[in-house]
Formats: sequence, C-alpha cells, structure tokens
Amino acid sequence: MKVNILLCLTVLALLCEKAGAGTDIEALMARMTLREKIGQMAMITLNAVSKGQLPFNPAEPHELDPERLQRVIVDYNVGTVFNIGHHAFARDHWQAIITAMQDMATTRTRLKIPLLYGIDALHGMNFAFEATLFPQQIGLAATWNPDIVREAAKVTAYEARACAIPWVFTPNAEPGRNPVHSRFYESFGEDTHLAAVMTAATVDGLNAGDPAERAGATLKHFIGYSIPASGRDRAGADVSGHVLRETFVPPYVAGIKAGAQAVILNLSDLNGVPVHGDKRLVQELLKDELGFAGVVVSDWNAVDYLFFHHNVAPDSRKAIEMAVNAGIDLVMVPFDLGFVDVLEALVNEGKVSCARIDDAVHRVLTFKKELGLFEGPVTPANRHPLYGSQAFKDVARRAAAESLTLLKNNRGVLPLARTSKVLVTGFAADSMAALNGGWSYTWQGVETDAYVKGTTILAAIRDQIGAGNVVFVPTLPDTADAIETAVQAAGQVDAVVVCLGETPYAEVFGNIEDLTLHRPQLELAKGLAQTGKPVVLVLTQGRPKIISEIDKAMDAIVLAYLPGNEGGRAIADVLFGKVNPSGKLPFTYPIGPNALIPYDHRRAEAYAFKALYPFGWGLSYTRFAYTNLAVTPERLDPQGRLTVCVDVKNTGERPGMEVVQLFTSDHFASIGPPVKRLRGFQKIGLAPGETKTVTFTLTAPDLAFVNAANRLVAEAGHFTLTVGQLTKTFALTSNWP
Ligand code: NOJ
Repeated sequence: MKVNILLCLTVLALLCEKAGAGTDIEALMARMTLREKIGQMAMITLNAVSKGQLPFNPAEPHELDPERLQRVIVDYNVGTVFNIGHHAFARDHWQAIITAMQDMATTRTRLKIPLLYGIDALHGMNFAFEATLFPQQIGLAATWNPDIVREAAKVTAYEARACAIPWVFTPNAEPGRNPVHSRFYESFGEDTHLAAVMTAATVDGLNAGDPAERAGATLKHFIGYSIPASGRDRAGADVSGHVLRETFVPPYVAGIKAGAQAVILNLSDLNGVPVHGDKRLVQELLKDELGFAGVVVSDWNAVDYLFFHHNVAPDSRKAIEMAVNAGIDLVMVPFDLGFVDVLEALVNEGKVSCARIDDAVHRVLTFKKELGLFEGPVTPANRHPLYGSQAFKDVARRAAAESLTLLKNNRGVLPLARTSKVLVTGFAADSMAALNGGWSYTWQGVETDAYVKGTTILAAIRDQIGAGNVVFVPTLPDTADAIETAVQAAGQVDAVVVCLGETPYAEVFGNIEDLTLHRPQLELAKGLAQTGKPVVLVLTQGRPKIISEIDKAMDAIVLAYLPGNEGGRAIADVLFGKVNPSGKLPFTYPIGPNALIPYDHRRAEAYAFKALYPFGWGLSYTRFAYTNLAVTPERLDPQGRLTVCVDVKNTGERPGMEVVQLFTSDHFASIGPPVKRLRGFQKIGLAPGETKTVTFTLTAPDLAFVNAANRLVAEAGHFTLTVGQLTKTFALTSNWP
C-alpha cells in the first residue's frame, strides 16, 4: 500500500514537472509584449555592442560598449549575440564579456530572459586562444572514423562552454559537391552517406557531455549551398527536386535525428529562388516534412539580401516579411536594430501573423531552456579544467593522424628512415596558418602564426630526427624566387619533403578562377624532382588543387587537408613511420580543372570519367587482402535484411587500420542510376597477419533512390555489391515501399 502511494506521488510529481517544463515557456510568452517577442528573434553581432568603429583594429584590446549594450539588450530586448571577424580572445575575456552581457539581460530587462551567445566553431573553438584546433571538416571526413569525429565535437563543445558560449554553428551537413567552392573544406566531402554519418557523429558529440559541457549544434547551410553552379561562393545552384532530396537532404535528416537544435540557411538561391524567402523549402520541407523542431536561423545579413542582392523584394521591409513568413525564427541582422521596428509594424499591419511570431519565439526560448540558460546563463569559470589540455591535444593529433591520406608511395619511399638527412621546403613547411586554413583565430585565418606558437611541419620533423638532419629552405606560395636555392640544397640530403598547397581563406575570399596549384609551387616541385632525390609532396589544402603536372614526378604524396594545430606533428609521425596512414579520400581527386565529376556520377557519364585518385582512395604502409565476400540472401525481400560478410587480412608487416567500404550499383532504375553509391563503411584495426570478418546489414531503404516523383524508392531488380575488389550480385524481389 505504502509502495503504491509512493509510486502515485512520484508519477504525479513527474507529470507536474513535465507539465511545468512544458508550460514554462508558454507562461513566459504569455507575459511578453510583441516587441519583447520580436527582440528574441534578432541576432546581433558582437561588433554592435563593442567599443570602437568599424573596421575594428585587432591590435587594440576589445571592450564592450555599455551604451550600445544597453540599447541592444535593454531597449531592443535583443536575445542573441554572435560574432565573426577579429574576435579571438582568451577564455577569461570570453567569460568576462559574456558574463557582462548576461548580467544585463538577466537583471536589467523586464523579463530577465538570458541571452543566447553563438559562435562559429568549425574545427574546434577556433576563436579562443589555447583552445584545441582539430582538422577542418574535410580532414575529419578523411578519417572515416565517426568515433574520433564525435570525440572532437565533444571537446569543441566543452571548450566553447569553458568560454561561456553554449551554441556553436557547426556542423556543415551538406556534402561538398563542387571542389572549386571556397567552402569545400568546411564539408565532409562529396558523399551523402559519409556526410550523414559524420554530421550525426558531430551533433552527438556536441550534445554528449553533461549540461555544463555540451553546446547546441547547427546544421548548415540549408539547402543546396555547397553546389554553386559557377563554383563561386554564394553563387546560386540549379538542382532538380530528386537530386536535392537524394544528395542533400539525408545529412540534414541524420543531423535532425541526432538532435541538432539549429539550422542556418543557404544565403544564395536555389533554382532561382533565394532560400531565405522560400517558404516551400524552409517551412514546408525543413519544418513540416523533415520535422525540424529547432531554430531556423538566417545567415549574415541574408534577409536584407532578398532586397539588395537577390532583388526579389522591392525593399528591406518586404524582405523581412518574406523571410519571416518563409519560416525563419532567428535573424542574423547583424547590425540594424530597425529589424525589430519593422517586424513589429508588419505584425500590426497583419502582414506577419502573431502565430508565426509565437512559433519563432517558442523555438528560440525552448532552445535557451534546453541549453540550461535559465538556470545558469554563464558556466562557472573554474568548471572546465581540461580546456586546452594535453589530453584534448592528443585527440586532435589522433584525428589529424587518421585523416592523413597517402595518395602514392613509389618503391615504399615512405616512411623515411629516422637517420636520413632531409631537405624541408615549400611555403607550408613552417606555417601554422597553412595547417589550419580559414576560420582560425580570425575569419580568414591569415594571421594564425601571430596567434599560436604551435608545431609546424618543419618543427615536428626537427623534433623527430634532430635539427642537425634537417636542411630548411623557406619559399613563398606564389613567387619562384627560392626555387634555385631549394634545388641546390637537395644536393646535400637523402630525401626532400616539399610542403605545398593553399594559403588560408574563407568564403568569398577563397573564390578562384583556376583550381590548378599555383605555378611557382609546381615549378618548385618539378625542380626538386629533377635532382633525382626522392621527393615527398605534402599537401595542406582545403580543396583538391590540380597537381597532375607534378603527380608522376613525385615519389610519395601525403594529402594532409587542413589538419589543424596538431597537424605538423601528425605529418611527421606519418613521414617517419610512427603512424601508419589510414585516411581515405572523401572526394574524387580531379585529374584536371575541367574534370570535376564526383564518383557517384550517372552511368551515361562514365565514359568521360577520369580521376587522378578515386573517392575512397588511400594507401597504407601495410597491405590488406579481402576474401570470402558473402551476401545472403541472394534474393532480398523488401521487408528483409541483407547480410554482407567479408574477411579482411593484414598481409603486411605492420599494424594498420583499414576502411572497409561497401558500394552498391543498381543495374537498372527509372532514373539513370549512378555507377555506384557508398552504402556503408567500417574502420578496423589489424595486427600483422590478423584477419577480421566485417559484417554489414542492409535493408531495402539502403538501396533506395529518389525517383522522378520525389519519392524514396527501391526498385526491384539486380544490384552489384562491391567491397574492396570483390563483387557479388543479388536481387531485390519487389519494389519498396
Ligand atoms: C556567414 C557564414 O555563411 C556562416 O557559415 C556563418 O555561420 C555566419 N556567417 C556567422 O559567422
């Protein structure tokens, strides 16, 4: 009896708590004026509440401006602040300014609603000193290891929270479908499945810690941003409905399922309609169909773009009306508080409904609540002892090491003997900026070496084999001045390590006319090759710069992507054999600037297809043999399961990791089928001589594609399944669903 009463009381308490949790926000909203609500829909840049004039001088200490702060937070009730640009601070400064902002929001405003602070944290908490910088997403994808991606995201969230920042604008869910695009490095590569798995892992990691250690996740840039037709950032794209759903939607679905709390929109246009004004995409596809219940965020100034950039609205007033009615909840204004006045007027005129405002505000406040901001708007300063710790750096080093992709290794020139004398040259050899790329301390990432005294490739090689064994000839990325000196220096050494690639850039500043590696860098590599010494090319770059002119002349090539602050050490570990490389290309390495065709092109295109290195490619210092591929049953019922088993053996002399990739090819379909599609992968470790059986399970949805009627279907018929060099054919007995 006693037990029953207790049980009833507990259930009642739980129900009340649940009801309380559900009605909290509603009760708060019932007390809010329209203006207070609209304030919660505005997002203002840190510059707008800081002292000084634009452009800010990064050399001057940053200070909040109390008057501007008062105007934004108290007078306009703005609920969200974020930053970009020259705002890299020490953790203490982040804590101090966010505490000041939160104090104002929670003591000086009528309803004391805590502020939401958000930040771009693309490869770690990249706007904070001493935080851990991981490989950029393209490198994380090359690990093909969702566990390490999850761990990296967990560290990112922890270090953001250590800075009192509860919300990060990552991951970039969309596959990068145009390698010319300056934001290619922000993607998980060209494949939808890989991008979906890594997106989910990132969201999972960001949300994994205890409440004081997690950060809200943001999927971006919904949708179709990463396939700009011209390759230029912010250029529009024409993408048919079924391609959009097949290639771009799944990573969003994976991210939403994993619990992503926000989505930032694509600031360009899709099929001629700017996404920020497209109700069909924002309200109908994202919110209604995909069931996204979090906050839909506009990108920087992108609502106004509807007016002055896209010219689909006659003025900014109409632009705001279109954007809010399309389903945007939070507007990255980022300066103009007039947004609040205009939206208030639009509601009073009946052009935007109160229901739409309530939907938006409910989402924003729920997000704040989920982040625990109502209980404690600032995470205590001493709560995160692991900030910038060696333990976190070790995760970054492991991630970088697992990303490094050995594209070629003639005559086993790598690993180099630790006793060898080496020439290290190329502009990227002694540069932390080259390891990190854009979004590192500053938006463009060009000043990284002023912010961090890390270990460059050169320093790491010196550490490994002793400074006495290293000859260094510095060069510049785009002049040929030092080529002669470098070539002469090659005469004194056993091997050459030449470090080439890209200097940092972000967004439009990375637009290029030609994907080819800069000519002076090609000439340097050619000159070194002519010396007859073994030449190892290390590439630090965010997109596949065309290297066909030098590829054959290089003895070994290590593609490092943008491996972050621990990348220098990881590269030296691979060069001298401490680490056996296991990265695999998350994209097709193009053979020429006019050969930008992804691996999953349609069959009809296959005759024109040629890659320098194919999607999924990457060598190891050991060898793996695949045998005994078994697929059961041979005839799959649409409700059934297909079991795929394969034995993988390490037949070499070193331990190594292998990424087992499973592809399917549909023999016939109502839409021209792609040559193959990645449907599963597993990264495994094998000791020399060891064999493991790897098992995959596929169901009909894993064989599906989006048909001309925009429906996900798997059509009956035969499929070829490929794992390693092995293939098997099986049949789907009838259509699914
Ligand atoms: C513009 C970029 O497109 C987006 O990725 C970023 O999150 C925002 N600016 C905020 O910095």
